[in-house]
Amino acid sequence: MPVDAKRSDLVLAVIGTGAMGRGIAQIAALGGIKVLLHDAKQGAADEASAFVCRMVDRLVEKGKLDDSAAGQAKDRLQVVSGVADLAPADVVVEAIVERLDIKQELFRELESVVRPDAILATNTSSLSVTAIAAACEHPERVAGFHFFNPVPLMKLVEVATAVRTADWAAEALVALAKRMGHTPVLCIDSPGFIVNHAGRGFGTEALRILGEGICETIDMDRVMRETAGFRMGPFELLDLTALDVSHNVMESIYDQYYQEPRFRPSFITRQRLAAGLLGRKVGEGFYRYPEGKPEQPAETPAPTAGNRAIWISKADADSHKAVTDMLSAAGAELDQGSTPAAESVCLVTPLGLDATSTALEQGLDPQRTVALDTLFDLGRRRTLMTTPVTLPDVRDAAHAALAKDGVPVTVIRDSAGFIAQRIVATIVNIGCDIAQQRIATPEDIETGVKLGLGYPHGPLGFGDTLGPKRILQILETMQSYYGDPRYRPSPWLKRRAMLGVSLTTPES
Ligand SMILES: NC(=O)c1ccc[n+]([C@@H]2O[C@H](COP(=O)([O-])OP(=O)(O)OC[C@H]3O[C@@H](n4cnc5c(N)ncnc54)[C@H](O)[C@@H]3O)[C@@H](O)[C@H]2O)c1
Repeated sequence: MPVDAKRSDLVLAVIGTGAMGRGIAQIAALGGIKVLLHDAKQGAADEASAFVCRMVDRLVEKGKLDDSAAGQAKDRLQVVSGVADLAPADVVVEAIVERLDIKQELFRELESVVRPDAILATNTSSLSVTAIAAACEHPERVAGFHFFNPVPLMKLVEVATAVRTADWAAEALVALAKRMGHTPVLCIDSPGFIVNHAGRGFGTEALRILGEGICETIDMDRVMRETAGFRMGPFELLDLTALDVSHNVMESIYDQYYQEPRFRPSFITRQRLAAGLLGRKVGEGFYRYPEGKPEQPAETPAPTAGNRAIWISKADADSHKAVTDMLSAAGAELDQGSTPAAESVCLVTPLGLDATSTALEQGLDPQRTVALDTLFDLGRRRTLMTTPVTLPDVRDAAHAALAKDGVPVTVIRDSAGFIAQRIVATIVNIGCDIAQQRIATPEDIETGVKLGLGYPHGPLGFGDTLGPKRILQILETMQSYYGDPRYRPSPWLKRRAMLGVSLTTPES
């Protein structure tokens, strides 16, 4: 009889009661499920059970739970001393050390204890669920059940189906997740599942920009927060997750996808990891954290306006209008001629291209050319880019004009795709390829990324908001500029952009 996750007498076993196991035990007990807790380390399961009880009491203190529900939840926790005591379990969730051989050994032992149709789920982040299941006589009842830390707050769980997982096992885990108050997303067992796969673009592209000497980390963090709407910039995030985790995840996923260029890591994080600059937890990463607070450089003040008028390229009519309206409203001096006057600043608005190529393509003087990123909202921060030969007073005149209404301006060196265009296009492209590979449905990709990574949109929704055709143009332009297959557009994106349909459109 396949497991019915809604049964009132359902029994869940949690093995490994560390950071993840105890969180899973907590949400299960609160979901009305009896929980057996086991840990190989003496006393660890008792300590975890006491921890969960304290967390449940805290919910009562905060008025989120009444006394009787709390008492019942605590009564559902039972510590057991050995794997043999887990026989009554309908579902086992394993959250032990991240080692394939140890997990396989445990699953083999579990099979000799639990009944043949009990579900065996693993919380592994980086191992192949299929390889864990391969150790079992009944691999059809093995699946990934990947939670996020801290479990009670991160309401997402990825249900990963291994090559031989039966539908009934995945369906039962989906129902179980819902019963525990979590949102399940289904995916095929593949490196990084949905969330850690979709998250490969943000940091790796930011590291490429850093590696090209285009700007400083703080510039990227500010631009990604204030123009693209991310809660944290890429380097703030790397400092939070710490390089001993994030660099290793970058390398692991890159290798598991056989050196897929879209996921290529950077030597910068490898060196910083070797130097011990792990991030916030050691007091220093890309930023220093005296007394736990990030020490970030102050905003560079805008220069005072020079005497050059601003001529705005008409190559993109929408951008021309938006920038003209913005600068006129701010009272900047504009050159409205059909071609720029001899002393005017030439302001261009490329998509995916650098300022130098844009100036040469449009027959403009590269010494007087600067580029503005108009893909994102211009109301909170603006990104201005120079060519290698832009005159300093031209750059300053453009900076002053763009900052005249009080909006801060980030000035960067030449980059095909500025900062936000190239990072967001990379994220959209990877999301599209997850859909193309049928790792998950568009809906689950969006849900997974929003809940698991906290991005302002899922990758497909991000692409739809900015326009699939424009994302495709950025990627194709970058690919031809750099000659790097990293930027090759996913067929999923290409076809939907050509058809003019949403990136969430599934195959009919
Ligand atoms: N920490 C995270 O952010 C996170 C997120 C998602 C998934 N995971 C995965 O969850 C699993 C557990 O991670 P964690 O952070 O909770 O680790 P942890 O170190 O906090 O806890 C692991 C626990 O497992 C116990 N253990 C080790 N080997 C055991 C065995 N053979 N039998 C029984 N107990 C054993 C340890 O004593 C320890 O209490 C790993 O597979 C990890 O990849 C972790």
